[in-house]
Amino acid sequence: MPSTAPTTAFTADADADVSTLDIRPVTPVIGAEIYGVDLRQPLPPDTVVAIKAALHQWKVLFFRDQPISDEDQLRFGRYFGPLTPAHPISEGLLDHPEIWERHASEYKKHRPDVAIPSARPPRDYKGWHIDITFVANPNSYSILRGIEIPAYGGDTLWSNLALAYAGLSPRIKALVDELQAVHRTSSYDAGTAPKIRRDGKAAGPFVSLHPLVRIHPVTGEKILFVNPGTTSHIIGLRERESQALLDLLSEEVTRPEYQVRFRWTPDALVIWDNQATAHAGPIDYAHFDLPRTVRRITVAGDLPQGPDGFRSQPLEGELFGVIG
Ligand SMILES: [Fe+2]
Repeated sequence: MPSTAPTTAFTADADADVSTLDIRPVTPVIGAEIYGVDLRQPLPPDTVVAIKAALHQWKVLFFRDQPISDEDQLRFGRYFGPLTPAHPISEGLLDHPEIWERHASEYKKHRPDVAIPSARPPRDYKGWHIDITFVANPNSYSILRGIEIPAYGGDTLWSNLALAYAGLSPRIKALVDELQAVHRTSSYDAGTAPKIRRDGKAAGPFVSLHPLVRIHPVTGEKILFVNPGTTSHIIGLRERESQALLDLLSEEVTRPEYQVRFRWTPDALVIWDNQATAHAGPIDYAHFDLPRTVRRITVAGDLPQGPDGFRSQPLEGELFGVIG
């Protein structure tokens, strides 16, 4: 075990042998670089167990200098569970429907610096989000690989949502433990028409009801399950109470001391626990025009469960599918 163990409780996977991995923590609380594995090859079962243990402890793992193929990325992803299609709204590559390719230039197009007049919060918080929580079964893990990486710019941030919960006062913890919140696609309030997909599937709107705190299915940690990008309101509160509490919790989710910042390098691959982190990136897309292309796959997840046993429910739109 690294000497700089995180301050949050970690019990599951504690017996895994992580000694074969070269784990180099980046901060005391989140993020580790992993060396000593070659993702071009199938991994021995012990190595997979060790990587999973490290992932649940450090929440985001960085692998540098991995010149892998799309097939290698898919094989690595399947160690963590069945894969989903690329995205409920957007579609994947023609030859690999699991792979979502993103270019930094798309962020400028989709996030212009002008507010949409009809759009109320969900608050933006500079792009911070948890992947795909507008469906009732968000993906459990996300795996992002650099295809074309600029010499500078395009960094990604992650934050530790177990710490975001742990840092709350006991009385606020008791309050949020029993609450549920609505998550919905950001276009929901703007009234824009859903995209047309090649496969004819409905591309939204998507709306789901989630516990405000979820129990991590592997570690048992309590996770502050607030998605600054898509959590629209808390059930059972007055609107201004809901807005004020979500503002407060979103600030907790994005506190700098809970974060790690990753500077991409060519052939880097990152896997994060989408059940325990939020992220933002590329954080500076508005300030550079260099080409930056990444490819993401996602591992299917369960319906999140709250401390009181509440299970997430779809309100509009289908569940996130599984390709296998
Ligand atoms: Fe994301």
